[in-house]
Order: sequence, then C-alpha cells, then structure tokens
Amino acid sequence: MCYVGFGVTTVLQPSTFLQRYPSYATTATLDALRAAEYPALAAHTYLDFTAAGLYATSQITRHFEFLKTHLCGNPHSTNPSSSVATEYVTRARGAVLRFFNASPDEWEVVFAGNASLALKLIGESYPFGPGDRFLLTFDNHNSVNGIREFARARGATATYVPVVLPEMRVAEADLARALETAHAGGSNLFAYPAQSNFSGVQHPLEWIAQAQAKGWDVLLDAAAFTATNRLDLSKWKPDFVVQSFYKLFGYPTGIGCLLARKTALAKLRRPWFSGGTITVASVQGDKYYLAEGPTAFEDGTLDFLAMPAIAIGLQHLESIGIDVVHERVRCLTGWLLDQLLALKQTSGRPLVRLYGPPDTERRGGIVTFNFYGADGRAIDHRRVEELANTANISLRTGCFCNPGGGEVALGLTGTELSSCFRQPEHETHLTIDDFRLCIDGKSTGAVRVSLGMVSNILDVDRFIAFARGFIGQ
Ligand SMILES: Cc1ncc(COP(=O)(O)O)c(C=O)c1O
Repeated sequence: MCYVGFGVTTVLQPSTFLQRYPSYATTATLDALRAAEYPALAAHTYLDFTAAGLYATSQITRHFEFLKTHLCGNPHSTNPSSSVATEYVTRARGAVLRFFNASPDEWEVVFAGNASLALKLIGESYPFGPGDRFLLTFDNHNSVNGIREFARARGATATYVPVVLPEMRVAEADLARALETAHAGGSNLFAYPAQSNFSGVQHPLEWIAQAQAKGWDVLLDAAAFTATNRLDLSKWKPDFVVQSFYKLFGYPTGIGCLLARKTALAKLRRPWFSGGTITVASVQGDKYYLAEGPTAFEDGTLDFLAMPAIAIGLQHLESIGIDVVHERVRCLTGWLLDQLLALKQTSGRPLVRLYGPPDTERRGGIVTFNFYGADGRAIDHRRVEELANTANISLRTGCFCNPGGGEVALGLTGTELSSCFRQPEHETHLTIDDFRLCIDGKSTGAVRVSLGMVSNILDVDRFIAFARGFIGQ
C-alpha cells in the first residue's frame, strides 16, 4: 500500500511492524470496530487522543434512544420524572466505581464538569493552613498547578519536584527527600499525574503508598492515563483521583469526576454551599447543613440528561477491554518512536529531538518532540501545526497546559522566566508573543502526537510520511 504525505510518498511495511510488535495482531478487533463505529476517521488522521477520545456511533445511538424513551426531570425531587433522572445518576456512579474496581464501601464518586473542576473542588476544600505543604511534580497540568494558589492563600507552602531530561522522569532521591518535609500533624497534599500529558511518562503508582507512609494525602491526576491503561483502585489507593470522561470514550463532554476515598472526602471543607449541596439552609437562621457524601460537592443541577451516556461509554470501553486498547497503543507507540527517531536530517543529525522515553518502557501513547532543520535550528511548532492541518492530520503543538514539562524540555530556566515576568510592562499582562520575545525567541512549545483506542498503523505511517517532509527543510 502506498500514499502521499506532506511532500513525500511512503510505502508501508506491515510485515516489519508485525515482526517487531507481533502482539498488535491480537488487537485486530479494533480494526473492525474502527471501520464499523468511527466513520469520521475514514478521511482523517487523528493523533490527538490525549486532548479528546473519540466516540463510537453506537454510543450516540444508545444515548439518543434512551432520551427518546425516558422522561427525565431535574433530579432534586421525588416526582416520577425526577426519580428516573436520579436513578440514572446512581447507575452512573455505580458504573464508575465498577470500572475502577473501587469498592463502594471505600470510595465516593463526585461528578463535576471535567477533571479541572474536580481539581478545583479539592483545591478550594483541602484544609490547607499555615505551615502545611502542597507538593507537586514539575510535570503537571495547569489545573493541578492552580491548586498552589489555594494552598498559598491559606499559608501553606507549594514545592515542586523537578523532572529530568532526557526521559523527563523524577529522580527517586529528589522525591524521597521532598516526601520527608511533611508538616507533622498538619495537612499535606502531594499531586502528580499517572501519565504525563507532555512526555507520556508514567510516573510510578508505587509513590502513592510511599507518600502516604510519610504523612501525605495523594492526589492522582488520571486524566491522561485511564483511556489506555487500567487503573485498579482496589490495588492503588490514592486519596483523590480526577478524570474527564470525554478523554476515555469521547462522549459526552461536560462530565468528569472526583473519585475520593471516604476518609479523604471527609477531610475536605467546602467554602460555600449551593443548590443541591445542603439538607437545610436558612436565611433568617443564618445556617446551613451540608448533605452527606458526594452530594455536598455537586453544585447545582448535574448534567442529568448526559449522565446515562457515562454508563454507555464505560460499557463500550469494557466490551473492548482496556488491556486490548493498552496493547495496541503500546505497539503503535513503539513503532512511532522507532520510525521517528531513525529519521535523519540532510546534515546527518536526527530529524527530531524527543522529550520523553525513547521506548515503550513505563510510558504511554504520547510522543512529544520538535523537528530540527538542516541548519540545526528547531522548526517552529506553529509551522508544523499549519502543515499538519493542510494534510488533514490532527495533532497538537505548544506546551499542552503543562508549563513545567515545557520549561524542562525547552531548557527555560527559572532565572530567565523570573526576569521576564519581573519586567514592569509584564506585571499584569503577557501575551504569548510577548513571552516569546522576552525569552529571546527560544522555542516555547513542541509537537505532540497522541494515540488512542482506535488508532491504527496507517495513522502512524501517515504521520511518519508527513515527518519525512521536513527532511531538507
Ligand atoms: C493530565 C491532565 N490533567 C488534567 C487535564 C484537564 O482536563 P479537562 O480540560 O478535561 O478539565 C488534562 C487535559 O488535557 C490532562 O491531560
């Protein structure tokens, strides 16, 4: 088979791929699934699964069938239409617990609009006080970084543990040292992603118990992990886990969750009350009583019409099997890395500089890099995105809301960043173009390719053909 990429023609070598990654053949059900259930992929190379998973046609059909045949009212009542909605919210909670193998005796599911809002619930409610600690890895999404503002506002210190090039992992000794700094008798929160949305690194889940033994509550950001990896909460017991469901199965958007151990949820102190979160609130008595469990954290009306689509999406994922998805993505990621890292510029130098592990060990299906030109300079990631757009390839460029990962990868130091931010004209306002100028035109971003449930070998080979187009540029 052959096809034309960005300025080049490539010839597929399926036998080579299968020799190197024979277990890919065991995932063939996903080829049939893609053909039957994801028609929009026929004309598109989708390489942005970490930003959003894709939905199968049958998910939509089943959800719409449900909406056509059920009368769902606002859940906060006992009337019949309300009861239907309440029942499906309860079913969705049960489906989430089963998917993560989380015992209902130990875990609660709090629905929130997305992973970021679930993180905000933790940030605003965690009992940070003077002398307390918020510890986090450089490698974190901004929605985790933002918790530092809640921590500091209440007198806690926020401390980062660095990640180290080239693999962008945390040095175990650095982490061990940081974990020794818990505030004895105080509140200590340690946050990290199970999988980096920048480098694809899978940080050890063993850190959970290690940190807890040193007095930390652990917040595991699973947003970039669970679409392609099993997270078994009967084995791993962080205090808090956050997730956006569209990342797992594409539809619906607008629903995420905070999975919290009951003991951990009981430590949180909500800063306000709202519709849906109380048993009683009084105007003249000037008092309110929060509801028990997850209800106290679910502000206002849940997206109750979308809620049945959560169980449908989880069933879809379970019917395929997360381990099958994992194996497919592992094989494709390995092949992508092998091919990409073998490409050479006309100067004989590597065509790309990779930020993250070069093989499939302890990493997921996220591959981030910059292309380098024949003159030895990085090719602007914005130009790469423009060219990919014209080739109908969806990839992502920039720093993916993970500034710590970006700063390490691109060699931006704390000193140069502070001197840029301290300039009087940048006190309150800084555009991305200002930022580029003030760090001397250094690259401020990279190119990210991410694979998922229905990625196939053609997607990867099309991308490699596209990448070859940069040879000689
Ligand atoms: C690791 C990680 N955490 C958190 C988020 C935030 O997810 P959302 O934008 O759905 O709130 C993302 C989104 O890409 C992510 O990759």
